[in-house]
Amino acid sequence: MISKKSMEQNLENVSLKQISLSFFFSQSKPLDLIELEQLLQSVGWGRRPMRRVQKALDNSLLKVGLWQHDPKFPRLVGFARCTGDGVLYATVWDVAINPVYQGFGLGKELMAYVIQSLKEMNIERVVLFADPGVISFL
Ligand SMILES: CC(C)(COP(=O)(O)OP(=O)(O)OC[C@H]1O[C@@H](n2cnc3c(N)ncnc32)[C@H](O)[C@@H]1OP(=O)(O)O)[C@@H](O)C(=O)NCCC(=O)NCCS
Repeated sequence: MISKKSMEQNLENVSLKQISLSFFFSQSKPLDLIELEQLLQSVGWGRRPMRRVQKALDNSLLKVGLWQHDPKFPRLVGFARCTGDGVLYATVWDVAINPVYQGFGLGKELMAYVIQSLKEMNIERVVLFADPGVISFL
Protein backbone atom coordinates (compact mmCIF):
# COMPACT_ATOMS: atom_id res chain seq x y z
CA MET A 1 0.00 0.00 0.00
CA ILE A 2 1.18 3.48 -0.78
CA SER A 3 0.73 5.84 2.11
CA LYS A 4 -1.40 8.94 1.61
CA LYS A 5 1.71 11.00 2.32
CA SER A 6 3.51 9.56 -0.68
CA MET A 7 0.58 10.20 -3.03
CA GLU A 8 1.29 13.91 -3.12
CA GLN A 9 4.65 15.35 -2.33
CA ASN A 10 5.86 18.89 -2.55
CA LEU A 11 9.22 19.71 -3.98
CA GLU A 12 11.35 22.42 -2.45
CA ASN A 13 11.24 25.61 -4.50
CA VAL A 14 13.28 25.18 -7.64
CA SER A 15 15.18 28.20 -8.85
CA LEU A 16 14.43 28.37 -12.54
CA LYS A 17 16.09 31.14 -14.52
CA GLN A 18 15.89 33.39 -11.49
CA ILE A 19 12.19 32.67 -11.01
CA SER A 20 11.39 30.64 -7.96
CA LEU A 21 8.72 28.11 -8.85
CA SER A 22 7.31 25.31 -6.76
CA PHE A 23 6.32 21.89 -7.95
CA PHE A 24 4.59 18.82 -6.59
CA PHE A 25 4.30 15.17 -7.51
CA SER A 26 0.95 13.46 -7.59
CA GLN A 27 -0.22 9.93 -8.23
CA SER A 28 -3.82 10.84 -7.62
CA LYS A 29 -4.42 14.13 -9.43
CA PRO A 30 -6.40 13.29 -12.58
CA LEU A 31 -4.40 13.56 -15.78
CA ASP A 32 -5.83 15.42 -18.73
CA LEU A 33 -5.02 13.18 -21.69
CA ILE A 34 -4.56 16.09 -24.07
CA GLU A 35 -2.17 17.86 -21.67
CA LEU A 36 -0.26 14.61 -21.16
CA GLU A 37 0.10 13.97 -24.88
CA GLN A 38 1.19 17.59 -25.42
CA LEU A 39 3.89 17.07 -22.81
CA LEU A 40 5.09 13.85 -24.43
CA GLN A 41 5.05 15.46 -27.87
CA SER A 42 7.06 18.41 -26.52
CA VAL A 43 9.95 15.99 -25.92
CA GLY A 44 9.67 14.71 -29.49
CA TRP A 45 7.51 11.62 -29.11
CA GLY A 46 4.85 10.78 -31.66
CA ARG A 47 1.14 11.20 -31.27
CA ARG A 48 -0.75 8.16 -29.94
CA PRO A 49 -4.44 7.29 -30.11
CA MET A 50 -6.12 8.68 -26.98
CA ARG A 51 -8.20 5.59 -26.29
CA ARG A 52 -5.09 3.38 -26.29
CA VAL A 53 -3.20 5.84 -24.09
CA GLN A 54 -6.09 5.85 -21.61
CA LYS A 55 -6.08 2.04 -21.54
CA ALA A 56 -2.31 1.96 -21.05
CA LEU A 57 -2.67 4.40 -18.13
CA ASP A 58 -5.48 2.34 -16.63
CA ASN A 59 -3.27 -0.76 -16.82
CA SER A 60 -0.21 0.93 -15.32
CA LEU A 61 1.07 0.11 -11.86
CA LEU A 62 2.07 3.69 -11.12
CA LYS A 63 1.47 7.04 -12.82
CA VAL A 64 3.23 10.13 -11.54
CA GLY A 65 2.54 13.68 -12.64
CA LEU A 66 4.91 16.51 -11.82
CA TRP A 67 2.92 19.71 -11.53
CA GLN A 68 3.90 23.31 -11.31
CA HIS A 69 1.95 24.95 -8.50
CA ASP A 70 -0.61 27.47 -9.64
CA PRO A 71 -3.78 28.15 -7.65
CA LYS A 72 -5.88 28.35 -10.82
CA PHE A 73 -4.10 26.27 -13.43
CA PRO A 74 -1.55 23.77 -12.11
CA ARG A 75 0.52 22.79 -15.12
CA LEU A 76 1.75 19.30 -15.96
CA VAL A 77 5.49 19.71 -16.53
CA GLY A 78 6.66 16.14 -16.05
CA PHE A 79 5.44 12.58 -16.14
CA ALA A 80 6.50 8.97 -15.62
CA ARG A 81 4.65 5.69 -15.42
CA CYS A 82 5.45 2.10 -14.52
CA THR A 83 4.07 -1.24 -15.52
CA GLY A 84 4.72 -4.48 -13.70
CA ASP A 85 3.48 -7.42 -11.72
CA GLY A 86 3.13 -5.37 -8.53
CA VAL A 87 5.39 -7.73 -6.59
CA LEU A 88 8.72 -8.55 -8.21
CA TYR A 89 9.35 -6.39 -11.27
CA ALA A 90 8.47 -2.97 -12.60
CA THR A 91 9.42 -1.15 -15.79
CA VAL A 92 9.55 2.63 -15.99
CA TRP A 93 8.20 4.21 -19.19
CA ASP A 94 7.38 7.62 -20.61
CA VAL A 95 9.71 9.65 -18.39
CA ALA A 96 9.48 13.22 -19.65
CA ILE A 97 10.15 16.74 -18.44
CA ASN A 98 8.87 19.66 -20.51
CA PRO A 99 11.93 21.07 -22.35
CA VAL A 100 11.37 24.51 -20.74
CA TYR A 101 11.97 22.89 -17.34
CA GLN A 102 14.78 20.51 -18.28
CA GLY A 103 18.24 20.74 -16.78
CA PHE A 104 17.13 21.93 -13.33
CA GLY A 105 17.13 18.60 -11.54
CA LEU A 106 13.43 17.84 -11.94
CA GLY A 107 14.05 14.65 -13.94
CA LYS A 108 16.27 13.35 -11.17
CA GLU A 109 13.68 14.23 -8.51
CA LEU A 110 10.98 12.53 -10.58
CA MET A 111 13.01 9.31 -10.87
CA ALA A 112 13.80 9.40 -7.12
CA TYR A 113 10.07 9.75 -6.39
CA VAL A 114 9.20 6.87 -8.74
CA ILE A 115 11.85 4.58 -7.23
CA GLN A 116 10.74 5.45 -3.69
CA SER A 117 7.10 4.74 -4.57
CA LEU A 118 8.08 1.35 -6.04
CA LYS A 119 10.12 0.57 -2.92
CA GLU A 120 7.03 1.25 -0.82
CA MET A 121 5.29 -1.43 -2.90
CA ASN A 122 8.20 -3.78 -2.09
CA ILE A 123 9.05 -4.14 -5.79
CA GLU A 124 12.40 -5.90 -6.02
CA ARG A 125 13.68 -4.94 -9.48
CA VAL A 126 13.16 -1.85 -11.58
CA VAL A 127 13.95 -1.53 -15.28
CA LEU A 128 13.98 1.75 -17.24
CA PHE A 129 12.82 1.71 -20.85
CA ALA A 130 14.72 4.47 -22.64
CA ASP A 131 16.54 5.44 -25.81
CA PRO A 132 20.20 4.35 -25.70
CA GLY A 133 21.20 8.06 -25.71
CA VAL A 134 19.64 8.80 -22.36
CA ILE A 135 20.62 5.69 -20.40
CA SER A 136 23.28 7.73 -18.56
CA PHE A 137 20.42 9.90 -17.19
CA LEU A 138 19.73 7.20 -14.60
C1 LIG B 1 15.73 12.78 -19.68
C2 LIG B 1 14.94 13.88 -18.96
C3 LIG B 1 13.71 13.29 -18.27
C4 LIG B 1 15.85 14.53 -17.92
O1 LIG B 1 15.11 15.52 -17.21
P1 LIG B 1 15.87 16.81 -16.62
O2 LIG B 1 14.94 17.47 -15.67
O3 LIG B 1 16.36 17.63 -17.73
O4 LIG B 1 17.08 16.10 -15.86
P2 LIG B 1 17.89 16.65 -14.60
O5 LIG B 1 18.05 18.13 -14.72
O6 LIG B 1 17.28 16.14 -13.37
O7 LIG B 1 19.29 15.95 -14.83
C5 LIG B 1 19.61 14.75 -14.18
C6 LIG B 1 20.87 14.16 -14.73
O8 LIG B 1 20.60 13.55 -15.99
C7 LIG B 1 21.46 14.08 -16.99
N1 LIG B 1 20.66 14.16 -18.24
C8 LIG B 1 19.66 15.02 -18.46
N2 LIG B 1 19.16 14.81 -19.70
C9 LIG B 1 19.88 13.79 -20.24
C10 LIG B 1 19.88 13.13 -21.50
N3 LIG B 1 19.03 13.47 -22.46
N4 LIG B 1 20.79 12.14 -21.70
C11 LIG B 1 21.67 11.80 -20.73
N5 LIG B 1 21.73 12.40 -19.53
C12 LIG B 1 20.85 13.39 -19.29
C13 LIG B 1 21.86 15.44 -16.47
O9 LIG B 1 23.10 15.84 -17.03
C14 LIG B 1 21.97 15.18 -14.99
O10 LIG B 1 23.20 14.53 -14.68
P3 LIG B 1 24.07 14.99 -13.42
O11 LIG B 1 23.23 14.71 -12.20
O12 LIG B 1 25.28 14.11 -13.51
O13 LIG B 1 24.33 16.44 -13.62
C15 LIG B 1 14.49 15.00 -19.94
O14 LIG B 1 15.63 15.50 -20.59
C16 LIG B 1 13.50 14.53 -20.97
O15 LIG B 1 12.29 14.61 -20.76
N6 LIG B 1 14.00 14.04 -22.13
C17 LIG B 1 13.16 13.59 -23.23
C18 LIG B 1 12.45 12.30 -22.94
C19 LIG B 1 13.41 11.18 -22.55
O16 LIG B 1 14.41 10.93 -23.21
N7 LIG B 1 13.07 10.49 -21.42
C20 LIG B 1 13.91 9.44 -20.84
C21 LIG B 1 13.65 8.11 -21.40
S1 LIG B 1 12.06 7.42 -21.09
